[in-house]
Amino acid sequence: MKLSLRTRLFLGMSGLIVFFVAFSLVLNSQFLGRYYIGQKRALLIESAEMINNLYQGDPESIAIELEGLERNRGINISILSPEFEMKYNSSFRLFSQGHERRPFERLPLTPPMAVYLQENLSKGDYVTDVVTDPRLKTNFLTLAARLRNGEILVLNTPIAAINESTAIASRFFLFTGFITIALGGIAVFLFANRFTKPILELNDIAQEMSKLNFSRKYPVQSEDEVGQLGQSINSLSDQLDKAISELKEANEKLKEDIERERRIDKMRKEFISNVSHELKTPIALIQGYAEGLKLNVNEDEESRNFYCDVIMDEADKMNRLVKDLLNLSQIEAGYLKLEKTDFDISAFIDNVMEKYRPIFTEKGIDLVVKKDGNLVVHGDVVRIEQVLVNYLNNAVNHVDDNRRIEVAVTSRKGKVRISVFNSGRPIPGDSLDKIWTSFYKVDKARTRAYGGYGLGLSVVRGIMEAHGNAYGVENKDNGVLFWFEIDEV
Ligand SMILES: Nc1ncnc2c1ncn2[C@@H]1O[C@H](COP(=O)(O)OP(=O)(O)O)[C@@H](O)[C@H]1O
Ligand SMILES: [Mg+2]
Repeated sequence: MKLSLRTRLFLGMSGLIVFFVAFSLVLNSQFLGRYYIGQKRALLIESAEMINNLYQGDPESIAIELEGLERNRGINISILSPEFEMKYNSSFRLFSQGHERRPFERLPLTPPMAVYLQENLSKGDYVTDVVTDPRLKTNFLTLAARLRNGEILVLNTPIAAINESTAIASRFFLFTGFITIALGGIAVFLFANRFTKPILELNDIAQEMSKLNFSRKYPVQSEDEVGQLGQSINSLSDQLDKAISELKEANEKLKEDIERERRIDKMRKEFISNVSHELKTPIALIQGYAEGLKLNVNEDEESRNFYCDVIMDEADKMNRLVKDLLNLSQIEAGYLKLEKTDFDISAFIDNVMEKYRPIFTEKGIDLVVKKDGNLVVHGDVVRIEQVLVNYLNNAVNHVDDNRRIEVAVTSRKGKVRISVFNSGRPIPGDSLDKIWTSFYKVDKARTRAYGGYGLGLSVVRGIMEAHGNAYGVENKDNGVLFWFEIDEV
């Protein structure tokens, strides 16, 4: 079974307390009696020495001292002559005393006592022994000694009392032992709790950390080893957190990079396939017509001229495509360097319209230009012209039989908005976003008819993004409106 640190600490310390209490109980029951007798014996010896020092042969002269010993120490004192005749016996004296003092009487000593004394007195200065009195059925601790004047001193103290008091002491000790164990158990429990709480908390935090959760911190309250460990764990957590989030960030960035790389790769492949697709037709035409020209070289002038025209026309388209592509790749690669200047937008529009007038007239297009006075704007005039021309080309290519094209210039909130409207069919909703990507065409056949590649609006997007200005398209009643903005000065 796996025990927690707290339980182990509690059990270990409680065990120690129980062990010590039990140990003292055993010590007590085994040795308290003996110790007590030892103490009593020392008391008897001390009393005997005192008497030996005081006694001159006449008990009466030290009666007060003897009575003091008798009463204070509970010792029965007998003094015998060398012939074992009782000269003084404290209990007899007390018993016979009454109210008046009487002279000591000589008491005969019982024969067994005399024998006992004779046997034992030779053994040492102070001979002690536990003796049972058969009449009283009590044990006495007896001391026998030969005094300096040759007389014999016998001291008795009952040890029934001793046994009783050690029993009481043992019982009391058992009682206090239980209280000690109970209180000690509570104290140990509280201590174990208090001591292990921070360790358990640290353990919890470390486990959370292993699950990469670094939000929990150890509240450092002490400066001991546990407090230091807490601090270390906190800083470890912080550093791990930092390192791991940095790693995550780097990983995220790497993923993004890979994703972008993949997207660019896909775009590049699409681009190449689009370009080759666009080139396929003119190349095939050129090849076909060149072969035709070679075979029919002897035919009439007119048909030769037609073959040549087709070849030149297709070569011209290819040339345009390559130019557009170069232009676009330059813009999309971010190499576009804008040369911004302040210029009058009204004059700019007039200038561009002048160039377009022959085309409009030729196609019978009704052109309306609306301008809000003279506005000065800030931008790359060459690139802005490219944008406007792309819108105008598209308008010319998509205008319907109503033949209406409207160019408007309006100013609002620091921006000048230029819009090109042409009457015609609206652009399908799901294509409104897509027309800004290269090679996207809503109607392929129609686009091919006017020689478009679907690159014009991507050029517009690139230029406007480089300017940091907005652009867009809206379907209107009976037509389509393209617009872009440019900073007003
Ligand atoms: N004024 C317009 N009206 C309707 N559709 C348009 C107009 N301008 C552009 N489009 C659509 O957007 C597509 C992309 O235009 P653009 O990028 O200029 O390419 P291109 O003009 O070479 O076709 C066109 O093929 C056409 O389908
Ligand atoms: Mg176009």
